[in-house]
Amino acid sequence: MAIRLGDIAPDFTADSTAGPISLHAHLGSSWGILFSHPKDFTPVCTTELGAVAALKPEWDKRDVKVVGLSVDSVADHHAWAGDIADVTGSALNFPLVADPDRTVATLYDMIHPNADSTLTVRSVFVIGPDKKVKLTLTYPAATGRNFDELLRVVDSLQRTAQHKVATPANWTPGDAVIIVPSLSDTEAAEAFPGFETLKPYLRTTPDPR
Ligand code: BEZ
Repeated sequence: MAIRLGDIAPDFTADSTAGPISLHAHLGSSWGILFSHPKDFTPVCTTELGAVAALKPEWDKRDVKVVGLSVDSVADHHAWAGDIADVTGSALNFPLVADPDRTVATLYDMIHPNADSTLTVRSVFVIGPDKKVKLTLTYPAATGRNFDELLRVVDSLQRTAQHKVATPANWTPGDAVIIVPSLSDTEAAEAFPGFETLKPYLRTTPDPR
C-alpha cells in the first residue's frame, strides 16, 4: 500500500554496508531520509550516492541520518562503493541497505511495475523524529535527484515543525516566512511582533531560525 504523509514510516531490519540496521532504532530521535536506487553499478546512482556522501556536514548540521537502499547484495554494495569513491571523490559514509529479495522495496512501495517490474524507482522518504513521514518524492530511474533541494525541504520541514509558519514558493533559509492562517492576528502579534499583512490570509515575518 502507498505510504502517505503522516503515516508512521514502516520499520524494518535489513543488512546494509554498515551491518544489520533496524530503521527506527538507527534513526533514534534524529530526522531521517530513506532513499532508493534502481540498481548497483548504474551511472546515475553512482553520481547520486557520491553527492549525498559529499553533503555529510549538511546532514549532520540538520541532525538528519541518511539511509540508501538498492535491490542488490551487501557484497555488491561494497564492490560498488569503490567505484563511487573513485568517480565522485566521496566515499560512502552512510548505510546502504541491501534488499535483494525486495522486502523493503515492497514495504515502501518503491517498485512501480508500469515503470519497471523489478527495479525500484528513485523514492525519497523524509522521516521526522516522531517516525512519521513528512515528505515523499518519486523520480524515474533516468533522472537524478537534486540533493540541494532535499536540504532545502528539510530546512522548511524543520522550520515549520518548530514555529507556526509555512514557507513560500522558492523559499530558502533567511527568506521571510508565512504565518499559518490558523493563528489569529492577536496571536500572530504575540509570536511575531511587527509581522506584515499582504492579505488577511497572507501574513509574513522574518525567518525565525
Ligand atoms: C542509473 O542509475 O544510471 C540508471 C538506472 C536504471 C535505469 C537508468 C539509469
